[in-house]
Amino acid sequence: MDKRKILIQFDSDANASVFDRVVAVDAGAEEIFSYAGVKPEHVQGLVHGAIFTRGPKDLKSTAIFVGGSDVGAGEKLMTEALKHMLPKFGLRVSIMLDANGANTTAAAAVRAAARHVNLAGTSALVLGGTGPVGQRVARLLAREGAHVRVGSRQQARAASVCQEILGRVANAHLQPVGTASSAELAAAVEGRTLVIAAGAAGAVLLPLVARTSALKIAIDLNAVPPLGVEGVGVMDKGVDQAGVICYGAIGVGDTKMKVHRAALASLFESNDKLLDAEEIYQLAQKF
Ligand SMILES: NC(=O)c1ccc[n+]([C@@H]2O[C@H](COP(=O)([O-])OP(=O)(O)OC[C@H]3O[C@@H](n4cnc5c(N)ncnc54)[C@H](OP(=O)(O)O)[C@@H]3O)[C@@H](O)[C@H]2O)c1
Repeated sequence: MDKRKILIQFDSDANASVFDRVVAVDAGAEEIFSYAGVKPEHVQGLVHGAIFTRGPKDLKSTAIFVGGSDVGAGEKLMTEALKHMLPKFGLRVSIMLDANGANTTAAAAVRAAARHVNLAGTSALVLGGTGPVGQRVARLLAREGAHVRVGSRQQARAASVCQEILGRVANAHLQPVGTASSAELAAAVEGRTLVIAAGAAGAVLLPLVARTSALKIAIDLNAVPPLGVEGVGVMDKGVDQAGVICYGAIGVGDTKMKVHRAALASLFESNDKLLDAEEIYQLAQKF
């Protein structure tokens, strides 16, 4: 008989995320062990507790979810956790990173775009491309062969994001662009058929006046008014607004939730899954 499915939550915040716990229950986790305020130095003991208790054939029923609002902290916890697994002896458990919802949100946004356009060769602009969500959106688009402009109010910040992505996606087509002034924004938007706005909550990144006739798909991930892309409704889900296919944050959020649940459920299929942005994007293909 299969052992009970245990999800171990490593959360870098002071309180472990209630949101992540609820999704875990809905995804079929039967026990959730939540650890808050987790730092890299705590991880070895937690991982050993996970891998040294059940035999290798039962370890698929134990998995780790790394969350918290700080994506950089989450990445460090994930790296640390992998260091302490012992795959040579079958002593490892599956692990997923979705700090701040960054991976599932980016995967759902790129999936939304891919429903309407062949991403390979598509000219895209990621506004707010330096945030954790925007960076992953840019990375996934680049991996799919899109030509991606990464936008930031400081072009130098966009340039370092492009360098980071190039380190992972060698043949990526990337261009860092500044977006601070209206002239810079106009140059950034010029000729782009796809715009994904991943700016901070409540910040308008693309006003109507800055649109061009090239724009065919606009996706906004900001749910807090004023919205990130003027003219896109928060609930829009593939809605045609004056010739532009629009998705708002809640429209994307429906797919994000499905992807989050599917990713968690897949952790319990084997003990060797490592779910980061790319793997989660693959899971998003069925939605
Ligand atoms: N639907 C969901 O389930 C879900 C889940 C997670 C996140 N989200 C949303 O996705 C969006 C991106 O999340 P995130 O955590 O990556 O965002 P973030 O880190 O808060 O901000 C992203 C980028 O926005 C830019 N920015 C900040 N303040 C700005 C301002 N006043 N005006 C213009 N640009 C500004 C910054 O880039 P520069 O300084 O380089 O310009 C920043 O790196 C947010 O709106 C968030 O609420 C949605």
